[in-house]
Amino acid sequence: MLENMLVLGFESSCDETGVALVQTRAKGVPVLLAHALYSQIEMHQAYGGVVPELASRDHIRRVLPLTQQVLKESACSLAQVDVVAFTRGPGLAGALLVGAGVACAMAAALDKPVLGVHHLEGHLLSPFLSSDPPEFPFIALLVSGGHTQLMRVDGVGRYELLGETIDDAAGEAFDKSAKLLGLGYPGGPALSRLAQSGDANAYKLPRPLLNSGNLDFSFAGLKTAVMVQAKKLAQAQGCTVEALPATMLADLAASTQAAIVEVLVKKSLAALAQSGLKRLVVAGGVGANRSLRDQLDAACARQRVRVHYPELHLCTDNGAMIAMAAAMRLQSGASVAAKTYAFDVKPRWALDSL
Ligand code: KG4
Ligand code: ZN
Repeated sequence: MLENMLVLGFESSCDETGVALVQTRAKGVPVLLAHALYSQIEMHQAYGGVVPELASRDHIRRVLPLTQQVLKESACSLAQVDVVAFTRGPGLAGALLVGAGVACAMAAALDKPVLGVHHLEGHLLSPFLSSDPPEFPFIALLVSGGHTQLMRVDGVGRYELLGETIDDAAGEAFDKSAKLLGLGYPGGPALSRLAQSGDANAYKLPRPLLNSGNLDFSFAGLKTAVMVQAKKLAQAQGCTVEALPATMLADLAASTQAAIVEVLVKKSLAALAQSGLKRLVVAGGVGANRSLRDQLDAACARQRVRVHYPELHLCTDNGAMIAMAAAMRLQSGASVAAKTYAFDVKPRWALDSL
């Protein structure tokens, strides 16, 4: 009896507190009833990045009001919840422990089972929250702040890692480049906004591992190249990097974005060609990038490949994807929730080990 089960999901792996209620169905994709999100970005901005201890404390403050909001919006009561899900990893240990602790305490009080969800599985399955969900099998390009991976996905829990970054993630490349251009935190959205008015061919930046013949990525060298280029310009102008003329900063941003996007698009196409699959799913925060979407759309149209994205507001971390991943697991029978409340978290956790 796995239909019409109410799954309450908690996300607290980094700097977003997310809570959501999803309902399983006899057939098809589970339904999102309500979700609520609180982003701590403003709080961390003053420090130029996420401060783990502050993140944990803020999750504690937000999680119960967000839960009440979700229950109110879905017109459900806590007593109706059948399974409680939470992000078990990967992520910041202290932040993860907040979601795990709340989820397990709640489930114990309700005498209901709990299910620990892999954060990247949440991202991977987030396009199922859109009105045009994908079908298995597909190639997934997972591009977040901490991960850059290409996976073959044959079903819920059936994930084969095809390639991944050997150093920085794509989101990290955006964030670090943005930081050295003085764009603040988180840098991805700011850099891509600035890039809109810049010339992507203005500066020649490296495309690491573009022709490596495998599906791995490397982005650590790119930020160094951006820094060298920016410092050269600043020296010529007799100013600091942050004080460079707006057009130069925009050109640097556009050139950086173009380098990251070109590698992501080319490797995604290579993974599709190798596997013979004609469906691509893009997930994770960098999946919100307009230029990446435009270039993937154009390249995939040429290859007759269907591309699926999560809705823009569900690209970055949220509770809906965690509740959805748990509901899809329950519906597929791939993993059964249990009434074991002695929780743990996994700050490091490989998705293909599931
Ligand atoms: O998936 P996510 O919310 O968190 C992790 O699980 O890491 O991804 C956050 C990452 C950050 O690096 C952020 O800069 C990047 O996604 N990001 C973007 C954009 N929106 C978010 N990068 C480029 N363009 C964007 N529009
Ligand atoms: Zn994430």
